Amino acid sequence: MAGSSSCSLLVLFVLFGCAFAAKDILLGGKTDAWKVPSSESDSLNKWASSVRFQVGDHLILKYEAGKDSVLQVSKEDYDSCNISKPIKHYNDGNTKVRFDHSGPYYYISGEKGHCEKGQKLTVVVMSLKGGSRPIVAFSPSPSPAEVEGPAASVVAPAPTSGAAVLQGGGVFVAVGVFVAMWLF
Ligand SMILES: *[C@@H]1O[C@H](CO)[C@@H](O)[C@H](O)[C@H]1NC(C)=O
Repeated sequence: MAGSSSCSLLVLFVLFGCAFAAKDILLGGKTDAWKVPSSESDSLNKWASSVRFQVGDHLILKYEAGKDSVLQVSKEDYDSCNISKPIKHYNDGNTKVRFDHSGPYYYISGEKGHCEKGQKLTVVVMSLKGGSRPIVAFSPSPSPAEVEGPAASVVAPAPTSGAAVLQGGGVFVAVGVFVAMWLF
């Protein structure tokens, strides 16, 4: 009995973790990806469009320190490969950038000529789904008595909230965990 309860809880906490954990994402999925791409199909943006970036995630760019650098630039400077006025500049060879807001981020190489040859990257960062919504928004009947008392377990059985977890955002996961805590 106790065993199966903690197991169910564990599953919910894993779901919780998956929804919230910030990811460290290695550029291109390999250690030497920050370089002039060998072909159009090898481009960094092709890779980036297949990856889901969220606020809080880190992007890690590895390259040889001193031989290359990473510039975060405006869209305008990205388009024209202008390296003269970067927003941020990294050259340590093991650059870790954190996405602390949603929207596009633009990176180009600080080496002369590299950006023109395709060493550039656009990352579109998504906000955490549901993260900014008020807590009451999820509940169609937010009666305080229902939410607080042990009766909540009866009116909101675990399987229902489990389904909501899979379809909804982080708020639903949190609610699932709290319902589980009441149940077990
Ligand atoms: C790059 O940007 C700087 C500052 O905005 C500007 O003065 C310069 O003319 C630009 N260079 C090129 C090649 O566009």
